[in-house]
This record gives sequence, C-alpha cells and structure tokens, in this order.
Amino acid sequence: MKIIIANWKLNPQTIEEARSLASQIEHGLLGIERRGLETAICPPFVFLPAVRHAIHFAHLGAQNVAAEESGPFTGEISVGQLREFKTEYVIVGHSERRAMGEDDKLINRKLKLVLKHKLEPILCVGAGTKKEHSNAAVKKIVKKQLGAALAGLSSSAPKLTIAYEPVWAISRGLGTGQAVTPAHAAEIIGFIKSQAPKARVIYGGSVDSKNASGLAKAKIIEGALVGGASLKALEFLQIIKAFSQ
Ligand code: PGA
Repeated sequence: MKIIIANWKLNPQTIEEARSLASQIEHGLLGIERRGLETAICPPFVFLPAVRHAIHFAHLGAQNVAAEESGPFTGEISVGQLREFKTEYVIVGHSERRAMGEDDKLINRKLKLVLKHKLEPILCVGAGTKKEHSNAAVKKIVKKQLGAALAGLSSSAPKLTIAYEPVWAISRGLGTGQAVTPAHAAEIIGFIKSQAPKARVIYGGSVDSKNASGLAKAKIIEGALVGGASLKALEFLQIIKAFSQ
C-alpha cells in the first residue's frame, strides 16, 4: 500500500484554517481512485482534534512524540495522548528535529515506544546539507542512521514506513526547494529496502504537483512525505493523483 503524507510543520496558524484545509483534502479524496493508496495528515498537535473531526478517508498522524510515556516532561506529548485522537502515524527523526538536537538514541527510544503502542512510525533518514554527496556517501550515512534507529527491533518488525529525505532537498517554506531526480530517489530507496526489507519506503523533499508523476513512475518509491505542497489542497491532491495512477 502506497502512502502520501502531509507534514504541515508549524502551519497553519488558526484552527479554522486547519479545519478548512483538512476538509478540502478530504473532499478531494472522494474523486480520486484510492485503491492501493492511503493518505495521512500530520497537523500541529493542537489541531489534531479538529483535523480528526474533519477527515474520514484520510488517516491522522503526528509530527513528533515524547520518548517517555508520562511524567515530568514539560511541553511533551505522549503516545497515549496521541491515541486519544485515533492518531495512527507518528513522524520520528525528521531532519528538522534532528537539527534541534534529537540524536539516534532518542530516535530509537521514540520508535520503540510508538511501536509498543501500535502506532506506525514514519522514520526519516537522509544525508546532509550538500547536494554533492555521491550515492555511495548517501548510502553510508543512511545505513548508519537506520542501524541506530532500528537497534533492538526485531527484523520481523511490525509496521514501519521509512522516508528518504535528503536534507538539502527539503524546501525552506512553501515547496520551493529542488527535489532529487527519480533515479536517485529510486537508487537510495532500493538500498533502504535491502536494509529493511519489510518497511514501506517513501521519498520526501520538495515533492510538488510538477515532479510527483516522475517520482511515482519509479515503482519502488511507495509514496511521498510532503511539506510545503501539502498546505495547498489542490496541489496536495495532484500529488495523490499522480501516485494513484
Ligand atoms: P518539503 O518538506 O516538501 O516542504 O520539502 C518535506 C519534509 O520536510 O518532510
């Protein structure tokens, strides 16, 4: 099953906008052949209830989660609290969180906790800030990130989605960055599959309505994690359509 995930990041600013964007996406899904394809929306935590009520076909995801189940952790949100809103997915180890100080150990703990509570993690991996990395260098970095994140998890692993997101390809705002070529994404995703054969592996980094069909043609790419372009319903729906072909 392919998946297209909206990662709204720190947007939008009002509950009304969140509700409206989720409803527009949900409405658009009605007109798309969705067999073999699912959609998830990851809004900011405070909008989880509003988005939950606005969606039916789309699934709900969170952008992050605490590494602890409860206790004195100011500002954190627990996996149990996420379950209250029937959240099914949790993004773990996004490069923007790694840049805020999340290390491999913390990511590993979060991953285990999410799986223990039967939610599906979307683990993000991807090399550095330089476009010039060779495929071999990217594979080396990704292998290290995967090894650390998946340490102690059995290979008969439960449900897991891995997003290959080269940091340099992630847009700085409204999807204005430059995606990698489908050939590069396919090559690294093939490598990730060789390391984690049971995982569903998707691509993220400046996916938009223009480059989506090229990426979707590479059948090994099982979906997309979409930031900037998921903030415009029509744009996001075009991406879903491209992967539903
Ligand atoms: P982008 O973000 O689509 O805006 O590049 C993707 C992501 O960071 O998950």
